[in-house]
Order: sequence, then C-alpha cells, then structure tokens
Amino acid sequence: MTATSDSPASGPAASATKRVFIQTYGCQMNVYDSERMKDVLAPLGYGPAETPDGADLVVLNTCHIREKATEKVYSEVGRLKKLKDAKAADGGKMMIAVAGCVAQAEGAEIMRRAPAVDMVVGPQAYHKLPELVARAARASGEALETSFDVVEKFDALPASRQLEGPSAFLSVQEGCDKFCTFCVVPYTRGAEHSRGADAVLAEARMLAAQGAREIVLLGQNVNAWHGAAPAIDGAGSWDLGRLIRQVALVGGIDRIRYTTSHPGDMDDSLFEAHGAVPELMPYLHLPVQSGSDRVLKAMNRKHDATSYLDIVARMRAARPDIAMASDFIVGFPGETERDFEDTMALVRAVGFASAYSFKYSRRPGTPAAEMLGQVPEEVKDARLQALQALLMEQQVAFNASKVGATVPVLVTGKGRHPGQMLGKSPWLQSVHFDGPDSLMGQIVDVAIVAAGRNSLTGELPGDLSGGRKAA
Ligand code: 5AD
Ligand code: SF4
Repeated sequence: MTATSDSPASGPAASATKRVFIQTYGCQMNVYDSERMKDVLAPLGYGPAETPDGADLVVLNTCHIREKATEKVYSEVGRLKKLKDAKAADGGKMMIAVAGCVAQAEGAEIMRRAPAVDMVVGPQAYHKLPELVARAARASGEALETSFDVVEKFDALPASRQLEGPSAFLSVQEGCDKFCTFCVVPYTRGAEHSRGADAVLAEARMLAAQGAREIVLLGQNVNAWHGAAPAIDGAGSWDLGRLIRQVALVGGIDRIRYTTSHPGDMDDSLFEAHGAVPELMPYLHLPVQSGSDRVLKAMNRKHDATSYLDIVARMRAARPDIAMASDFIVGFPGETERDFEDTMALVRAVGFASAYSFKYSRRPGTPAAEMLGQVPEEVKDARLQALQALLMEQQVAFNASKVGATVPVLVTGKGRHPGQMLGKSPWLQSVHFDGPDSLMGQIVDVAIVAAGRNSLTGELPGDLSGGRKAA
C-alpha cells in the first residue's frame, strides 16, 4: 500500500523536445496522479526520461503518510540539486517540482528551506503543472499552488491518456471527511469529493477503446462515492454499486475493482453488486486498523469489530469466494496487550487473503500525535511481527487453496524468465506461467500447480499458443 515506486514518465515521445522524470512515492492515488502529470505535460513538449540525470523537469510526487517523509524529500532534493547544478554548468536548466501530499502539508516552507525547488504543486492542483512550468521557466511570478478549492480538477484534464497494460486506474473520488485520528489525508487531500457519473463513464469508455480490459475505480474512500447521476437519469446522485453496474456494461471491460473502502460506507447496493455483477472481482480491500473497540473508538473509526465482522459475513453471503484484504495499525496510543489480542482474534475470525500492516507512526498535527500512552517502539515491533506472521500464514493458506483449480488470469506482462508470462487472478494474486507473448492483454484459463507466499505458478492447459478468452 505504501510501496515506493519509480515511475519513469511515458507519453507521446515523437514531438517531445524536453524530458520529465517523475519519482512516485506512496499510494495508488499517487501512481495515478503521476500518470496524469505526464499527460498534462505532454502538450508542453515533455516526453519521458528514464533517469533524473539530464532531465529538464524532475517531479517528486510525495506521500505524507509516514514519518520522515518530509526529511526524505529534502534529502532527495539535495541529491537532485547536484544534477541541476551540473546541467546549469553545461548551459542547460533542470527544474525541480515537489508534488503530492508533502507539498500540500509543507507548502511555502519547502520553497523557503530548499531554494533548488522551483515549484510546489498540491494534490488538488497538478493540472496546473503546465502553467507552473511555464511560469517557472520564465523565472518570474510565484510558483506555489496547493489550494484545496479546485474541485472539478478531473474535468480540466485532457481527455486522452496513455495506457500501460490492460489494467487501468480510474479516479472517481478524492479526499476524505472521516478524520481518523492518526491520519493526515483529510488535511492534505481535503474534503471528500465525488466525480460525476457521466465523466466517469466517459473515461471508462475511453480506456476501453484504448484496450483496457480491467478498470480499477480509485478513491481515498471509494465506497463513499456519490457522484451526480448522468444527465439522462435526472437529478440526484448514484452510489458506487450503481456505478459499478454501469461500468460493467461498457464494451470491452471484463473486470472491475475498487479501492480503498471504509467499513462505515458499505451499503446494500454494493453488497448486491458483488452478488450480481460477474465483472466485479471477488476481492475487497477493507481496512479495519484494529480489532479492539476501545482502540477503534480512539481512532475515530466509526465502526467496531462486530460491525466489521458483519460486513465480512454479508460479503461472503453475496460472493462466497471473496478475498478479504485489510490494513492494520499496531501500537496506536493506549493500545494494551489485551487490545492487541482483540486484533489477533479478529484476524483469526476473518481469514485474510492479503493485508498491509504498519506500526503506528506519529503524524504531527493529527489528534493521535498528542494522545497519552504512546507505545514504546520495541512493543510495536513485537506486535507487528506477531501480526504479520499470522497474516502471512493466512495469505499462504489462501494461495494454496487455489492449487488444483483452473482460474481466469488477465495477462498483464512478461514474467521474469524467458517465455514466461505474468497476470492476475480474480483474487488479485500474481500468476506466472509459460506462454506466448501473444496472450498479453487477454484473459486465459490457467491451471494452478503451485502456490508461494506472493504468487501462484500455473500452466496453460493443452495447446493455447494463440490464447483464448475465459468465460
Ligand atoms: N501510522 C501508521 N499507519 C498509518 N496509516 C495511515 N496513517 C498512519 C499512521 N499515522 C496506514 C493505515 C491506512 C494506510 C493507508 O496507512 O493503515 O489504512
Ligand atoms: Fe485516513 Fe481514515 Fe480517511 Fe482512510 S478513512 S483516508 S485512514 S482519515
């Protein structure tokens, strides 16, 4: 969830006269934002750079969810400054932009502390990147943009997007009003905002036309989505279940996923969609954070352990093979051994297919940072270890349960070894198998012959040299 990834820019390179390198940190929302940054910069003549060295523009798309994120940005800027100076010595110019949540949180402070930074772009404002680039290039005016007040930023973006592989992210919702006491998102991403159904469906059709087979609906709180109904449907708004049903009707889209959800926003329509829409994949990422009602209350999560277990039961009734995934925080202020045991008990009761777990990290400015009873580091370490061991046991068991089954796999790329292809099962497991390149982008039936911690090994049954689409 908070993996760090390099994201060398890609885009229409033919007319590109300049090079942009985007370094992406953090969540899928940032990966998505980086893609859009590339798209908005392309009309300005920016093509992809494989490394920051020699690039005309380097964007650090930052994540603020962890401690030390800010310091990491400053040290990265320090490294980039050397490249910037080297380019200047050659008579060139490299601009450095800081985008994402650290930009939102730190704003002008970054410009003050790191003069090498030419511009700071908040998450709500990256479509203004071209304007900022132009302004900074003229070296005049102030290049600071972190305002929350741009609501319909989606509609200000160009319509075309570069697709990488058959699975595409589609952002439908941004921001969060939940104010969990440990989290910076409501401050850095602003208020919850849903994009209208018409715009979402138009983008889904465009992605399908470009060859997308799978659409991942993205939002900080995606199941709180309540976008304006299509004009043809009159006034009012739709819920996520309704939107999913409609995306499923888009020709060429065979798989739909959505992430990330909040337990407080699960509604009947979404449960029903899981039972009724075959395109909706049997996977639910539903962060629970803790299994202790006391801790959940202190976290301001607005759900308790019982209501979470009820959701899991309803989900399994609607879609018996659903894979449950979650996020956990151990060592939240005041968490006792007993509270932690409640978390372990919840994990045992659910049986997760995969999960992300973190030690609580103090985020200045959030309510939990000031709470009494901060948990010592070594206690957090021990709890995290115990929790991760249990979650890994469950992940391995879940993977092993697929051995012997034949599962439809969306082929997303080549495997590590020659002649090997890589894809995703309906339950979001990586599957590798020997097969021809021609299967890329197809959904093929693969017989699962072995399972590891993080992936499945499969075989194409019979002669599938050309590949065929699974039902
Ligand atoms: N400390 C530890 N983990 C955190 N997360 C968010 N904020 C913090 C924090 N202050 C985790 C939560 C969330 C995931 C994206 O990151 O588990 O679901
Ligand atoms: Fe943060 Fe809570 Fe909102 Fe998730 S629901 S983004 S953890 S405030």
